Amino acid sequence: MARAVASQPLKEKEPGYRVLDAEGLNGGPPPDQLGLGELTPVGRFFARNHAPIPGVDPKAWRLAVRGLVRQELSLSLEDLQRRFLRHEVPATLVCAGLRRAELVRHRPVPGELVWDLEPAGTAVWGGVALRDVLMAAGVGDAAVHLGMAGLDEVERGGKTFGFGGSVPIEKALEPDVLLAYEMNGQPLTALHGGPVRLVVPGYIGARSVKWLAEIELLAAPSANYFQAAAYRVLREPDPSDPRDVRAGDALGEVALNAVILAPEQGSHVRAGEVTVRGWAMDGRCPVRRVEVSSDGGRTWIGADLAAAEGRWTWQRWTAQVTLPPGPAVLVARAWNEAGQGQPETIAEVWNAKGYANNAWHRVAVEVHG
Ligand code: MTE
Repeated sequence: MARAVASQPLKEKEPGYRVLDAEGLNGGPPPDQLGLGELTPVGRFFARNHAPIPGVDPKAWRLAVRGLVRQELSLSLEDLQRRFLRHEVPATLVCAGLRRAELVRHRPVPGELVWDLEPAGTAVWGGVALRDVLMAAGVGDAAVHLGMAGLDEVERGGKTFGFGGSVPIEKALEPDVLLAYEMNGQPLTALHGGPVRLVVPGYIGARSVKWLAEIELLAAPSANYFQAAAYRVLREPDPSDPRDVRAGDALGEVALNAVILAPEQGSHVRAGEVTVRGWAMDGRCPVRRVEVSSDGGRTWIGADLAAAEGRWTWQRWTAQVTLPPGPAVLVARAWNEAGQGQPETIAEVWNAKGYANNAWHRVAVEVHG
């Protein structure tokens, strides 16, 4: 599989795209470009990369299916497309770093990208069901996790390896988990993992491994750095090594969240009727209700919650509030179908690497008469 580094990945992005880090490209759209429609165009979709973007020749690409299978497989893109049924799944990818900026304001999170609302987006992914490929290989009785690794070359602790991780086998066998080669009806671009990436709907974006090279059925979670030593929630850092979160809990399903896209933090708005707009999502079960407060959480009104595009997508919501002149704090919170809500404060969710912030979203604005 000849490899070169893809050039100028930013070319596919629209003006206004916020670049946090140019190495490998990490960035996303400003809030006013997000959630304008149910789907996020590729030109606005966030990008999260831990290493330079590999340029992979689709003709030379092969997927290795290994581990606790009855028969190991090596599949080309053509094999996938010819031997298996094509599926489309609308799904929202949410990076575990979403809303880290609020955590950082509470207490420093050294060495991590300070994402705000950029790293979430919804696409219709096209490809084949991972389940169909696993069935073709035969799932061994001892298989408990699905490990995966990409073709990028990440450097950590003096070693170079492909970004990877794992999900429980029950999740891997759900029919909506895809080996995706299309995004919003177009072939996957190099930036988003082309020719083939995994899409694990409802799980943190990190499990949707790009430039997929191998999947492996395992008896234990993957030993890949990004499963064993990162994307873990550790509430109190170890003072001797504050960035080591091996002892924390591994992230999986996206936690219930409700995000205010407009008005934006620190913006100036005119007194009177103001439309508050955002999205809500829960990787475990549908969102039932979103509430908005315009007085810092003393009183609440129910928001209008739009139907989701699919089981795995965000739901957009709007609420009309009346704001008097002066400073105001808008707050959003949601409940899911299981009756669960969100943590109220940032202090409750702060963790050493600043992952999975799903505290009530507070946005301070200045209201002018
Ligand atoms: N896959 C590989 N191979 N390398 C990566 O750095 N980043 C992960 C995931 N898959 C990553 C990867 C993370 S943390 C996220 S949030 C999503 O890809 C982002 O997907 P996107 O760049 O298409 O938005």
